Amino acid sequence: MSSKLNVIRHPLIQDSLTHLRCQQTSLQEFRHYSDKLCELLFFEALQDLNTNQIKITTPLKTTQGKKLTDEVIVVPVLRAGLAMLFGALRLLPKSKIGFIGLERDEVTAIAHQYYWKLPKITKNSVVIVTDPMLATGGSLGHLLRQIAPQHPKSMSIVSVVAAPEGVKAIKKEFPEVKIFTAALDDCLNDHCYIVPGLGDYGDRYFGTN
Ligand code: PRP
Ligand code: URA
Repeated sequence: MSSKLNVIRHPLIQDSLTHLRCQQTSLQEFRHYSDKLCELLFFEALQDLNTNQIKITTPLKTTQGKKLTDEVIVVPVLRAGLAMLFGALRLLPKSKIGFIGLERDEVTAIAHQYYWKLPKITKNSVVIVTDPMLATGGSLGHLLRQIAPQHPKSMSIVSVVAAPEGVKAIKKEFPEVKIFTAALDDCLNDHCYIVPGLGDYGDRYFGTN
């Protein structure tokens, strides 16, 4: 797989993912480990953010410090992507947030859009799109296709589990997009669910079925 795919193998991430995969994990535990894993994933995904050198004064002396300069826009894909926003906001309290509502058709697995509200994207925007499950890549592809013409500084994907089919589709259409994920799973099943996967992320995080 291309170097733009980053599977984060940190033990805290992999331990949390194991809890998410397990079907016995309760709603409360699922939320706990999802929040933890997503914050850690964002931490990894943000390591290339730019900083400016600034002068500061500690109680003891004047020294140099660094200040974040990038304007970050986080775009969670509703509904399951909303679960990832909490972790992102803890790390990036000044980021702007955009929302897209997408839902896959149960038969065709093609996503249809029901909501769209994004902040203005400029050539300085670092755009991070978040969706826990990168399955066929249809949902994230649909989103990136609408953001790319606005020429942001960069676009990245943060997902919890990715399928090879979805990664391949995204890499083909958006070769510059970096993908950060906790796992590259085996394949999709006949219903376009990721295998072994963890089931329906939105249902498990929000308690629906
Ligand atoms: C799920 C998931 C992704 C999408 C991934 O959403 O949260 O958005 O499927 O599949 P894809 O890569 O094949 O497009 P779903 O349509 O189940 O909606 P939900 O988030 O409201 O549960
Ligand atoms: N959406 C999910 O929530 N899970 C999958 O395995 C695929 C799409």
